[in-house]
Amino acid sequence: MRAGVVGVGKLGGAVAFALAQEIPWDELVLVDALEGLAWAQAEDIRHGLPGPTPTVVRAGDLADLAGADVVVLAAGKGRKPGMTRLDLLHANAGLVASLGAAIGQVARKATLVVLTNPMDVMTTLARQASGLPRERVIGSGTLVDSVRLRVLLADRFRASPAEVDASVLGEHGDRAVPIFSRAKVRGEPLELDPGSKREIIEQLRGLSARVIEGKGGTAFGPAGCTAVLVRSLVSPTPGVVPASVVLRGEYGLRDVAVGVPAVLGQGRLIRVEEWPLRSDEQAGLQEAGHDLSRYVEDAAIVLGQAVRHARLEDFAAP
Ligand code: LAC
Repeated sequence: MRAGVVGVGKLGGAVAFALAQEIPWDELVLVDALEGLAWAQAEDIRHGLPGPTPTVVRAGDLADLAGADVVVLAAGKGRKPGMTRLDLLHANAGLVASLGAAIGQVARKATLVVLTNPMDVMTTLARQASGLPRERVIGSGTLVDSVRLRVLLADRFRASPAEVDASVLGEHGDRAVPIFSRAKVRGEPLELDPGSKREIIEQLRGLSARVIEGKGGTAFGPAGCTAVLVRSLVSPTPGVVPASVVLRGEYGLRDVAVGVPAVLGQGRLIRVEEWPLRSDEQAGLQEAGHDLSRYVEDAAIVLGQAVRHARLEDFAAP
């Protein structure tokens, strides 16, 4: 199996390292506009794999993604303190459209995993630009939101995160929807009053911003979760992972990528699970979907509907 990571700054570099640790690839190719950076990240990762590993880690260019099974797209600008993910829409839309088109042409059998923010909008754009079927374009970010919720609930109930089962759906951003109706701590359903729920939602919204404030950006969280998502994706056995996929009527939404329970395996999205949700959760998902659709339209205007072909110089490291 072969994989590539496009955009290997702080976030993409951490993703590449996590992928190299999690999965025995035949080859992992790192691509960046800054060739020296791709080389340095590849070399540093090679030095960080002391155990016997079959994986060849190397720097390459977009053409080297031919034949890849998985391509992770992490190129683009990242959030700075005080920015929302949607602030990045205009900065990253052209880049994702260009790279999406190039990856769709070069890596014809690959599944594209999108991290660039605003992740749900960029997943929708990457699907359109790449021409890949929706089964092979997956946005990563909903799992890290879910893990953040599990960590918050674990701290609140003095449990370990492993004892918490909870998921966040909706936007990877301000319209994230914690699914309290299915959340469990030590196997018990949660009894939370509306005030506590509001407090947890606020904490969840603020958590990545606080990490960005403290260290300039998030890295281990999205990287670790993306590696787990990709492991599930390439596994022959299907598994449910919260991820952003272009919907086709599920949850009443269409033609926009939104975080949902995605059944992944055999290298693709197998199907979207439709969970029975409480009415406020269903309404939150609708709101997220409709807002994200508007941002996709906005991005299409920014792009002038034109999808240019990527040149390597077109994109900068995050
Ligand atoms: C995060 C960024 C990558 O949530 O969106 O960590």
